[in-house]
Amino acid sequence: MKSSAPGKIILFGEHAVVYNRPALAVPVDQVQVDVEVSDSDKLGVWIDAPMVDLHGELSTLPSNHPIGTVILKLFQHLGISLHPNISVTIRSTIPVAAGLGSGAAVSVALIRALTSFLDHPLSNERVNDLVFEIEKLHHGTPSGIDNTVITYNMPVYYMKDKPIETFKPGKPFTIVIGDTGIPAPTKESVGDVRRLWLRDQNRFESIFNEVAQISTMARHLIETGRPELLGELMDHNHEFLQQITVSSPELDVLVVAARKAGALGAKLSGGGRGGNMIALVNPASAESVAGALRSAGAKRTIITTIQ
Ligand code: MEV
Repeated sequence: MKSSAPGKIILFGEHAVVYNRPALAVPVDQVQVDVEVSDSDKLGVWIDAPMVDLHGELSTLPSNHPIGTVILKLFQHLGISLHPNISVTIRSTIPVAAGLGSGAAVSVALIRALTSFLDHPLSNERVNDLVFEIEKLHHGTPSGIDNTVITYNMPVYYMKDKPIETFKPGKPFTIVIGDTGIPAPTKESVGDVRRLWLRDQNRFESIFNEVAQISTMARHLIETGRPELLGELMDHNHEFLQQITVSSPELDVLVVAARKAGALGAKLSGGGRGGNMIALVNPASAESVAGALRSAGAKRTIITTIQ
């Protein structure tokens, strides 16, 4: 039984979304997690996940191992106490800790492959809830946007504790993603923002209000087929992310390089301090912006079209 899940990027509203403001996120199909589950003649649940150098049996993993946690949580949810004899293979092209949702994608693909194999398919809603529980174990106070966009595999306009809204672009648009190669410490950056917010709630609340307006306006421009106007909003959103201290010199260098190379706008994407930035481009200049990002230090670039 096989299942896959995509990566994701946040277009607008990261961090503000933790404080109940809207954010926009889209799946990135160029990278993905593939999980295969099959019967095994060996006793137990044998896991093979080369991208994290894991080859072993479930019960031998440390109790907080992210992959072991997903499987145990699912078995618990399904009321399975006697572990089946199976082999689980996990392959991923989503860079780990890059802000592209690799952890949530592993959880989604793993849960779907296991539940299909065990003949106990779960609705998207159940999968999303379970993955959110797991995200909370590893990331402190996540908003739930990563698991939602990856579970539903559609562009989402997300607000915490609100019904999920997907949206459809009126016209396709192209984004170049540039990876600083520095692991994005999302848990720390979310925790630091929380501490700063506690110290100066008025200032942070008003920044989050501005970001909320940006996300709302961006959704409108995307849905009404005017994505070329998103560049300026990206630039503004990046300024606010700088103000809340989640950018970094490496991210800023890539953002400036993208704009100089002709991008219509650019910003960091995700938790920040490392990980990825995104740039809005005319399709014709996508390759040259990607090249400029690599010359400015990006460890890898991805060109993706949102449609
Ligand atoms: C991480 O992809 C996005 C953040 O807003 C955290 C979250 O929403 O859980 C930084």
